[in-house]
Amino acid sequence: MISDKSVQQVIDTVKVEDVIEDYINLTRRGVNMIGLCPFHNEKTPSFTVSPAKNIYKCFGCGKAGNPVRFLMDHESLSFPDAIRHLAKKYNIELEETRSSEAQVQERQLRESLYLVNDFALEYYAKQLFETETGKSIGLQYFKERGFREDTIKEFGLGYAPSKGDAFTLAAIQKGYKQDMLKQLGLTSKGGRDFFRDRVMFTLHNLTGKVVGFAGRIMGTNKKAPKYINSPETEIYHKSKFLYGAYQAKRAIRQLDECILVEGYTDVISLYQSGIQNVVASSGTSLTVDQIGLIKRFTPNIKILYDGDAAGIKAALRGLDLVLEQDLNVKVVLLPTGEDPDSFMRSQGLTAFEQYLKDEAKDFIFFKTDLLLKESENDPVKKTAVIKDIVSSIARIPDPIKRSLYVREVSQLMNVAEKMLVAEVNQAQMSLLKRQRKDRKQNRTNPQQDPSFPGGQNQLIPVGPELEAAQQKASQKSIEFQEKDLVRVIITEGDKVDKESGQSVLSYLLKELEPEVIDEIVHPVYKRVFEIAAQELAGGNSPTSAFWTNHREPEISELAVNLSSPPFDYSPNWEEKHQILLRSQVPPEFNFQKDAEQALKRFRLKKLQKLAIENQKRIKTAYESNDDIQVMRWMKLQRKLQEMRDQVAKELGTVVFGK
Ligand code: UTP
Ligand code: MN
Repeated sequence: MISDKSVQQVIDTVKVEDVIEDYINLTRRGVNMIGLCPFHNEKTPSFTVSPAKNIYKCFGCGKAGNPVRFLMDHESLSFPDAIRHLAKKYNIELEETRSSEAQVQERQLRESLYLVNDFALEYYAKQLFETETGKSIGLQYFKERGFREDTIKEFGLGYAPSKGDAFTLAAIQKGYKQDMLKQLGLTSKGGRDFFRDRVMFTLHNLTGKVVGFAGRIMGTNKKAPKYINSPETEIYHKSKFLYGAYQAKRAIRQLDECILVEGYTDVISLYQSGIQNVVASSGTSLTVDQIGLIKRFTPNIKILYDGDAAGIKAALRGLDLVLEQDLNVKVVLLPTGEDPDSFMRSQGLTAFEQYLKDEAKDFIFFKTDLLLKESENDPVKKTAVIKDIVSSIARIPDPIKRSLYVREVSQLMNVAEKMLVAEVNQAQMSLLKRQRKDRKQNRTNPQQDPSFPGGQNQLIPVGPELEAAQQKASQKSIEFQEKDLVRVIITEGDKVDKESGQSVLSYLLKELEPEVIDEIVHPVYKRVFEIAAQELAGGNSPTSAFWTNHREPEISELAVNLSSPPFDYSPNWEEKHQILLRSQVPPEFNFQKDAEQALKRFRLKKLQKLAIENQKRIKTAYESNDDIQVMRWMKLQRKLQEMRDQVAKELGTVVFGK
């Protein structure tokens, strides 16, 4: 267990933008920063980070929270593990209270996959650097390939000995369970080492955790595969993995470009030579998930193909996917017989970079050129080429880009621009149809949230249904007012009125009768009141950071949502429910007034609710000819109405601190 003090220290230290920038690219927008949301697929950024409030919120999918929450969601970490991760990042020493047996076991279970992999990494590295065979075979091999020792260490390269079960035995002796070793594919079903007599490549995820390994055979044994890789596991999904991404992410962000190569050794070789924004798709064509990974850092991708790659054409087809994701794709074809690693070694950095500059071709033109060469003077083939190119262009979401391509390609191919436009439009229509169908099949509309006003296509209710609907609406409205009060408590509760010396929170709690608080409908709002009252009683004045970092996830989530600019109040709600829209805060806005108004609006709603209830009493009494009761409830009704009118009148013209 991590001590509360340590947890607090971490929470007080972390900066939300620091944490998030490890994963996505953020750009300044006013006081906030924005980027592409890592939690859902989007093309225009709606993921907003507020350094001042130390929180983030996505206006597309609604994910929101503090830095700890981000790690928990993004890396699937538990709360303590997120804290540990942050402590490491900021070099904070954590005070851990001794864990119980059960806790140890639970955590081991969760983290054991990573732990075993960590052990394996260490083991293979030790073999490489500290054993005679490792040095003479493995290290020698890497050195011959020109890898420096610092590079070898940074990428976690290693050597797996040839003895059948050396690794497995060592791991078991260290206390790792064979079951885990098998699960990770480090030990084969029969109990032997999976990786034998191979040089080892470590597969890191974006945070640098070890998710798997690849082992390369040395020399040329035609029978055995060149590389063998870890199997898919809970922590390693090949289709979502890019080799080198952990080491490359900073450079990718800085240079605003990602270079994509095919092989592990290409990544390492380029990185070592000074091109650090490089990742590999590990020999397969790009997947949507991999593209998504790149897109978090940059929209610009440059793909390096080996000059003699047989599969270029097949690879090109895969690239339509990249176009759909609105990335800018450039392609560089290396000279025949070269791969990025060999080319870098023969040319050196300067010439290599110059080559990339000179030879990088826009993907669409590259494809057009390539296909045209093949279809020379063959009209049938040329028609097929046009169709192929057209379908690529149709996938580009940006219409301006699309029309530019159409113009260029029409010249390249010597066909009328008009005709190409028609073709592209047609291709786009069928594409849209297909997408719409897909969407219908597997997505529910987020706007269908029943708590979202107007989000539901409701039928118009009548009779008892109408009454129920009215009641529900009134209930919702009360909740809205409750929420408004909670908003004031969370965002302004600690502010102190200069004249009265009283905090907003203490003012509100004094003004609100305890019975009213007891009656709060929404359980989370009620909890806020409870916590607030407790804190106040203890002499504390909770700040908005207190709320956004609160240990109860519902509380911190609510606080984050209330602290970010509103999007859950749709425009006409202001009129309908007299909610002050924070996005339209007038310049003379001040927290005292805000608090008072929230309180009055809340009271107004309560009085309205009481009046409705009382009306029913009158009706019942009237129907049973009980004149005395009718008189009595009528009197109360008048009183309620008077009070309601009074509050309504005061709204907007109140003075704080009385
Ligand atoms: P390459 O054959 O180009 O390998 O395969 P490489 O990384 O450039 O290795 P060197 O330079 O010959 O030593 C490209 C990528 O395809 C995957 C690996 O990810 C490799 O890096 N691959 C290739 C496999 O997974 N298994 C294989 O048997 C071959
Ligand atoms: Mn190679």
